[in-house]
Amino acid sequence: MIPNTVLLVGSGGREHALACKLRESNPSFHLILAPGNPGMADLGERVPIPATDLDALTSLAVGRGVNLAVIGPEAPLAMGLADRLRAVGVQVFGPSAGAARIESSKAYARELMTRAGVPQPAYGAFNRLPDALEYLGRIESAGAIGAVVKASGLAAGKGAVVCPSLSEARLQAASMLEGGEFGEAGSEIVIEELLEGEEASLLVVCDGEAALPLLPAQDHKRAFDGDEGPNTGGMGAYAPAPVLTTALVNEAMERIVLPVLAELAASGFPFIGCLYAGLMLTVDGLKVIEFNCRFGDPETQVVLPLLDEDFLTLISLAASGRLPDRPLRWKPGRCVGVVLASGGYPGSYETGLPIEGTDAASRLPGVSVFHAGTRVAQGVLVTAGGRVLCVSAMGQGYEEAIDLAYRAAELIRFEGKMLRTDIGAGVRGREVKARLT
Ligand code: AMP
Ligand code: GLY
Repeated sequence: MIPNTVLLVGSGGREHALACKLRESNPSFHLILAPGNPGMADLGERVPIPATDLDALTSLAVGRGVNLAVIGPEAPLAMGLADRLRAVGVQVFGPSAGAARIESSKAYARELMTRAGVPQPAYGAFNRLPDALEYLGRIESAGAIGAVVKASGLAAGKGAVVCPSLSEARLQAASMLEGGEFGEAGSEIVIEELLEGEEASLLVVCDGEAALPLLPAQDHKRAFDGDEGPNTGGMGAYAPAPVLTTALVNEAMERIVLPVLAELAASGFPFIGCLYAGLMLTVDGLKVIEFNCRFGDPETQVVLPLLDEDFLTLISLAASGRLPDRPLRWKPGRCVGVVLASGGYPGSYETGLPIEGTDAASRLPGVSVFHAGTRVAQGVLVTAGGRVLCVSAMGQGYEEAIDLAYRAAELIRFEGKMLRTDIGAGVRGREVKARLT
């Protein structure tokens, strides 16, 4: 049965892209957006309930006869929104709090991967500084030069610190475990072997047992061109990412995703929703950098425009444990997304600045302008967050998609607009290679 009342939880660019794709498959179902954003106004009914107000969302779902819920962000998933909605009879695309621990506890995720026999960096998990320092001493004696120190809990994507030297790793461990950096999220830390290689994101639609991979994508996490500056939520992305060839995607499914899903199910937490595998292709093959329990942002804004499926049906089949037994269909072409951020992001920034040109940009064929940090004040669209918009563009090749995305991004103006000028630059010359694989 195709659901007739769908609740989509969240308000970012990822949720805007999800709403567009759901609406594309079916113009007539009722879509409730909690709370949504101004870009989504024509796609459904916006209800001003925050994504983390579990009581209000559950009452809304019961009161409005919601029969499918799609949960975008990690915070409500970690808090148990999917469990609450399932308990009142709603089908949910999004994991239980137990399954969401794969993102909300990096220590748990690493231990789960160990049990599943998944390739990953060497690591140790600690909640006492002396133990962490002892581990760092041990890896130093074994020849390590640097390490990655991560807050185990949710830290808005900022809890992983790459430390090129072990003295930095020691200071970082102390700052998290004893200095209160990242608060409760840093009361347990994971110290990982510092890997090298190209990264890619593999988003996988899961129904608790079976799983279907989406096209791989690559995110640009650093704030400035040339991968300089602080980590951000993501400044742009492109898909497909040629580094993950079809053979490597198959290998990632066999050796990483399916064993992890089986381990989760065996522990009583079957995963229903989008499992995001952050992978690195090292000289020793694929390794897992992290798992997220949700669609990526901005990866979703470049992967979904390429999907050639009835998305509402696909999501509702996944939510009811009935994913089809065939690969997903894709449109030919490439998609590139450029994030327009507020000046100062990911540090402090001003908000309330008028935005112009979104309509002109959206009118370019092949372009979608996904809203994230925007709101309407006295009838005017203004900035309201760090990442303001994501301009996604489709093209036959990367070159065409990149040029179109930047042409569209230029049409949009707001004071302090910040963007990377090198999104996708690494794949400009890789067209032929991508086609051959
Ligand atoms: P995470 O929040 O775990 O995705 O980490 C954020 C970023 O830190 C990743 O995208 C990588 O670029 C880097 N990173 C995380 N873990 C490692 C690792 N073990 N080795 C090298 N780089 C890492
Ligand atoms: N783009 C990184 C993330 O969604 O976590």
